[in-house]
Amino acid sequence: MMNIFESLREDHDRQRQLMEQLVATEGASEDRGTLFSNLTQALADHAAAEEKHFYSKLMQHDITLEMARHSVAEHKELDDRVEELEAMDHSNPQWLIRCKELRDRVLHHLEEEEREVFQLAGKALSENQKSQLASSYRAEMAQS
Ligand SMILES: [Fe+2]
Ligand SMILES: [Fe+2]
Repeated sequence: MMNIFESLREDHDRQRQLMEQLVATEGASEDRGTLFSNLTQALADHAAAEEKHFYSKLMQHDITLEMARHSVAEHKELDDRVEELEAMDHSNPQWLIRCKELRDRVLHHLEEEEREVFQLAGKALSENQKSQLASSYRAEMAQS
């Protein structure tokens, strides 16, 4: 049975893959539109389920409270960047520049979660919670 860290990491890897594919696309291609909408959906679904089934628990522990708040603030920042890109013409050369900035910010966020948040959360959560949260997270992601 998977724990919450493995479940989140699996979706992080999917995001990494989509972002690399997206920044390799050109101009107003159909691929760019499809990959961008797949990526933004993946980011939004993941952030919502992660906040509900992971960060809400971490907010209840002193050692993880600050990191949890920081991560949720980053979700908001990423969301703002996505909205900005949605509003821009995808064939505008500026679009790819801003998209690469989004990729860098997402990569930073994922790495910080995997290195720092998971480390502290490993101490705050019980083994039982780690597998229960994985189940509830997966169930929510399956519905989205
Ligand atoms: Fe996150
Ligand atoms: Fe995450």
